[in-house]
Amino acid sequence: MKIKSKLPHVGTTIFTVMSALANEYNAINLSQGFPNYPSSQKLNDLVTNAMNNGYNQYAPMAGNLELRLAIAHKYKLLYKSTYHPEKEITVTAGATQAIFTIISAFIRPNDEVIIFKPAYDCYEPAVEINGGKIIPIQLSAPNYSVNWDAVASKISNKTKLIIINSPHNPSGTIWSKEDMLQLQKLTQNTDIIVLSDEVYEHIIFDEAQHQSACLFDDLKQRSFITASFGKTFHNTGWKIGYCCAPESLMSEFRKVHQFNVFSVNHPSQKGIADYMQDSETYLGLNAFFQRKRDLFLSLISESRFKFQPSQGTYFQVLDYSEITDADDVDFAKRLTKEFKIAAIPLSVFNDNNKDDKVLRFCFAKIDETLVKASEILTKI
Ligand SMILES: Cc1ncc(COP(=O)(O)O)c(C=O)c1O
Repeated sequence: MKIKSKLPHVGTTIFTVMSALANEYNAINLSQGFPNYPSSQKLNDLVTNAMNNGYNQYAPMAGNLELRLAIAHKYKLLYKSTYHPEKEITVTAGATQAIFTIISAFIRPNDEVIIFKPAYDCYEPAVEINGGKIIPIQLSAPNYSVNWDAVASKISNKTKLIIINSPHNPSGTIWSKEDMLQLQKLTQNTDIIVLSDEVYEHIIFDEAQHQSACLFDDLKQRSFITASFGKTFHNTGWKIGYCCAPESLMSEFRKVHQFNVFSVNHPSQKGIADYMQDSETYLGLNAFFQRKRDLFLSLISESRFKFQPSQGTYFQVLDYSEITDADDVDFAKRLTKEFKIAAIPLSVFNDNNKDDKVLRFCFAKIDETLVKASEILTKI
């Protein structure tokens, strides 16, 4: 049988490749973005209670209502922004599903989608499988700041969607209020939809404020915000997330959602809804991760790696150009095999695999792991 792939260029992701290599060589794995400490016992108990109390059948299509109310409350509390829990919030199987569903609901063949590179890897295949055309805009290391004139020059009457991500995976940079205002200005009076991937909204450092798309009135009217409980509550394996958008956008989203997922794991939703009643569960995250970032950076301060402290996310980018001029994929493999530490080479997220000689390290790890990792990094 002849199979004509709809995604001929897609292979195994770099996360799978590096994690497999880390396992094979028994290396410390700072490549993939997941914690190596447990999800909270209280939250685990609340999910168990939900199972024992009968939350074992299909949840409502848009998500458990208590969870949607808790999400709506969070937007009120943090951003003074209103999302109607019944019409404007949908619980999804992780942010990944929300992103795929948004793109499937709106992108037709030849629609253009602007993506800032380096970009998280699930955006492009979703655009491609729906026949859309990716318009990449490369951000430059080490600041990864946006050249808004370049963005203006790429917007055309074919632009259907702009995908943004702050705090940004993989660079650990954040967008300023000025960036969001620029985006708002460029999209005003257009039919462009914005997908604002805000999965790291609660991991932002040095007292910076997260500039959610919902803070900007005109932007909010054209935006989906995607979020991930896996990132927020240290349980990436549960795959629960959500998205918010004005009703007119959300009703199109749900037309697709009800047929590709219908509804999401019910006991986890109920458990998370109960857990979120205490806002400290998410408000305390910045301090928790800032301590880890600071520990990691202080421990590697004597190393030959150069860095600008991560501004958000649980990733730190390290520049190894003083160590070698090897390309970043080769160097990442060598680090794993010879030095027993795994990281992600940034070129895989860049336009034309641009190699800035930087690697991404995940610091969502217990202190002991960070200490061991930095001992290795200091010796290289
Ligand atoms: C920027 C970004 N968006 C989306 C996701 C996917 O989130 P989830 O695991 O909830 O599907 C990730 C996960 O690493 C991410 O880093």
